[in-house]
Amino acid sequence: MKYIIGNWKMNLGVRESVALARASLLLLRGKKVAPEFIICPSTIALSEVRKVVARSGCRLGAQTVCYEEQGAFTGETSARMLAEVGVTHVIIGHSERRNLFGETDELVNQKVLKVIEHDLNPILCVGETQTDREGGHAKQVVTHQLAMALKNARPKFSETFCVAYEPVWAIGTGVTPTSQEIIEMHSHIRSVLNELFPTAPETAFAVLYGGSVNGENAYRFLREKEIEGLLVGGASIKIHQCKEIIEAACQVLAAQSS
Ligand code: PGA
Repeated sequence: MKYIIGNWKMNLGVRESVALARASLLLLRGKKVAPEFIICPSTIALSEVRKVVARSGCRLGAQTVCYEEQGAFTGETSARMLAEVGVTHVIIGHSERRNLFGETDELVNQKVLKVIEHDLNPILCVGETQTDREGGHAKQVVTHQLAMALKNARPKFSETFCVAYEPVWAIGTGVTPTSQEIIEMHSHIRSVLNELFPTAPETAFAVLYGGSVNGENAYRFLREKEIEGLLVGGASIKIHQCKEIIEAACQVLAAQSS
């Protein structure tokens, strides 16, 4: 399977989100083999977008969640509330949340636990900064992020658990690692996950790549078996780009199944 996850970030209002969701759905139409497609609109658009994607091949993700169950947490949205509006996946640990909103590894861990408790699927983001990479610490940083985020986690693995490798320096910059560099990090992530969850089957996790993915480079990444999907930011709200990404995934899947 290949995953295509669209992180729409804080770009579209409710009406625009509904329109993009409709257009995104059409991208799957008539496809015999299609990727697992998850769109993540802003929180305010979730319930309207749900009406569009209900009973379609497209699923609904949230961009963040509160670590607490309920109560005096002004401005936050709980996992229960997200589940109520049809959300199945939640992005956790995105570098923008970590860097702009001060989310720590401990908080990321609390969110992962909360989401699992509510039978939602985390899309856990990890990735090093430019400085980490230049200092030769990329793998060490990612190992630490994974170990912290997954501390005490008992995923049920009723669905595949997505981990997205998103090097901070590649997000929104137009710069990407080479496929070889991504594969190397993905193998590392797999080995850390194996150590953390020694009894989990191989299909329990999917390791995705994110950072400056677009219609042009998607196929190059997706054709690698170690890259099990893409977390797409900017290009996911440009329908022609999104179309190329979905088509690249369909092409790879069709080739695999033939
Ligand atoms: P980008 O963002 O595709 O715009 O680089 C990726 C992300 O933030 O998940």
